[in-house]
Amino acid sequence: MTTLEGKVALITGGARGIGRGIAVALAEAGADVAIADVEEISSSAQQYGTEAVGGMTAAQTTLSEIEALGRRAISLQADVRRKGDTQQMVEATVRQLGPLDILVCNAGVINLSPVETMTEEAWDLTFAVNTKGIFLSCQAAIPALRARGDGCIINIASVAGKKGAPELAHYCASKFAVVGFTNALAKELAPANIRVNAICPGILRTQMWEYLAEGWKRPDESKEQSWRRILASQIPLGRPQTPEDIGQLAVYLAHAKNVTGQAINVDGGQAGP
Ligand SMILES: NC(=O)c1ccc[n+]([C@@H]2O[C@H](COP(=O)([O-])OP(=O)(O)OC[C@H]3O[C@@H](n4cnc5c(N)ncnc54)[C@H](O)[C@@H]3O)[C@@H](O)[C@H]2O)c1
Repeated sequence: MTTLEGKVALITGGARGIGRGIAVALAEAGADVAIADVEEISSSAQQYGTEAVGGMTAAQTTLSEIEALGRRAISLQADVRRKGDTQQMVEATVRQLGPLDILVCNAGVINLSPVETMTEEAWDLTFAVNTKGIFLSCQAAIPALRARGDGCIINIASVAGKKGAPELAHYCASKFAVVGFTNALAKELAPANIRVNAICPGILRTQMWEYLAEGWKRPDESKEQSWRRILASQIPLGRPQTPEDIGQLAVYLAHAKNVTGQAINVDGGQAGP
């Protein structure tokens, strides 16, 4: 595998969790990295608890990790729900780090809610970040990637983009949409030699899963017991996935010259193809 030395990558939601894993893996492979994130996730339709650290605060730790690898790194405040923010994050990346080679659309939110009682706000926020955010980020980056003649887009979908789950109809629908968008965009951008793929992570104990393990806790369970029960019942390989697992696939996709339009699971065997 060749090195990513001299390449520039931009990762939305890259401050922590899966995005941090991808940012560090790309930097280890040689890329300079821009991290785009927001300090606070909208609390109106989503509850991650009071322990959550703000995105821009978390980004400082990730930047230090990347710089310690000898790579250049910048953090940018950009809300992927806003067209202007996505345009500015691409412009700032190119201005500060150089021409863009790799876009990773990773920013995402989740919220547990049965359809019967789901608020429109919860539905709209989920689609605004998880689906429209990917559309806007890709749209903003396409001219820069086209100029390189060898671009790569990686969208972070989910196993929830391949199979349904109770209380997550809005989240699943938003992620199925990402898989379809990815396949269509791959065909549209193939003549420009821009490859577009999705990664479908399984279950990773990020801030997002701290919320789910708490939310799916049975009355007689602790959050730890809830987490272990879900792992045992959902994952054939019996273990959680890690940000490093997802980072490895992102590095592979950044190199894979003949892979496009795919949505690849890293899920311990949970979902179908
Ligand atoms: N954790 C899992 O098990 C899992 C499984 C499958 C898919 N995913 C997906 O992976 C991606 C990362 O999830 P994670 O588990 O690392 O979650 P996380 O909550 O730890 O990280 C998400 C990051 O996105 C940022 N973000 C949220 N809204 C944003 C916005 N509007 N603009 C810019 N940044 C925003 C957050 O600040 C945070 O840094 C998401 O798209 C998620 O749906 C996660």
